Amino acid sequence: MSDIPTLEDLERELGDLSGTRILVRTDFNVPLGDDGQIVDDFRIRAALPTIEWLTERGATVVTASHLGRPKGEPDPKYSMDAVRERLGELVPGVELLENLRFDPGETGNSPEFVATLIEGIDGYVNDAFGASHRAHASIVGPPQHVPSAMGRLLEKEVDVLLGLRNKPKRPFVAVLGGAKVSDKLGVIDALLDVVDEIIIGGAMCFTFFLAQGKPVGSSLHEPDQVDVCTALLAKATELGKTIHLPVDITGTDADGNFAQFGSRLAEGSIGYDIGPGSAAAFTDVIMEARMVFWNGPMGMFEDERFESGTRTIAQAMADTKAFTVVGGGDSAAALAQFGLDDEVDHVSTGGGASLELLENGDLPGLRALRKD
Ligand code: 3PG
Repeated sequence: MSDIPTLEDLERELGDLSGTRILVRTDFNVPLGDDGQIVDDFRIRAALPTIEWLTERGATVVTASHLGRPKGEPDPKYSMDAVRERLGELVPGVELLENLRFDPGETGNSPEFVATLIEGIDGYVNDAFGASHRAHASIVGPPQHVPSAMGRLLEKEVDVLLGLRNKPKRPFVAVLGGAKVSDKLGVIDALLDVVDEIIIGGAMCFTFFLAQGKPVGSSLHEPDQVDVCTALLAKATELGKTIHLPVDITGTDADGNFAQFGSRLAEGSIGYDIGPGSAAAFTDVIMEARMVFWNGPMGMFEDERFESGTRTIAQAMADTKAFTVVGGGDSAAALAQFGLDDEVDHVSTGGGASLELLENGDLPGLRALRKD
């Protein structure tokens, strides 16, 4: 990433940071409970090295983030108050603007909104890795107008994820889960060129089952994606890569009772998790890998009847000697739920961003920071 300015480059460009006002775009899009309180402050803590580096040098730091997906107007449900309070406890004296998405100019990337963001600002730092796949005003606008740099978190995330993509240690295994196969098709296609083996769990395995001609009962599936899954299975064979699909499934039968199946589901039955045989087989693959990237739970782990597959994979990630990276969102939440978040090499703060960086090798937020 030597082509993207660092904090040190920004300091050189501005001469002295003391007395300057620096806008830091952070990803403080944290999960909030029903009571409006923060459930997990991981993303706030992850931004502290950058904020502290700047304040230690006498800069006034103004942070800015989105929270949730408000519709371009103020919505009390998505106010930054709880985040501001937590930030104040962790690092006093740092400003935090109101939710960027309360203004339609943020997602619309309007020049007028960029102008308001940089008013009175001497420099800009992007430390919002989790939002850097969005070409939104606060991500791509300021670098066109003021001296800009990537923060420490962005630098670390890009270093680790591009390291996976560009310098893989083999066998390199990707473990992909989650409900919607359509969200992951692009990344599966791109990863087939990079990894040696792909493990597929979560509800998206059912669309692959259909591509193999197996009945899926009433399990979640996407009929319009079956042909793409067929093509991906063919591509894997052509490249000599392996796509591992579950050999058994846990779920409910037609009467709604807890049940275990093979990989053909009878009418009315619904799969909610990979079965024990699949979890054991996937564990073997992870244990033999030298690099593993995991994104997406293996099942509906929020329900303890269906957490076993995800728990087993989380444990395998903790136990393997491979270099392990977990891509944000639900899989990071699962790791934390099982108390294993300190047992992997890197937990990314980005879900969609980490997938897009692996898929394309670049992000709009990174391109904006380059001085071409
Ligand atoms: C995330 O939670 O993945 C980031 O904060 C991006 O949020 P978004 O998907 O609403 O743009």
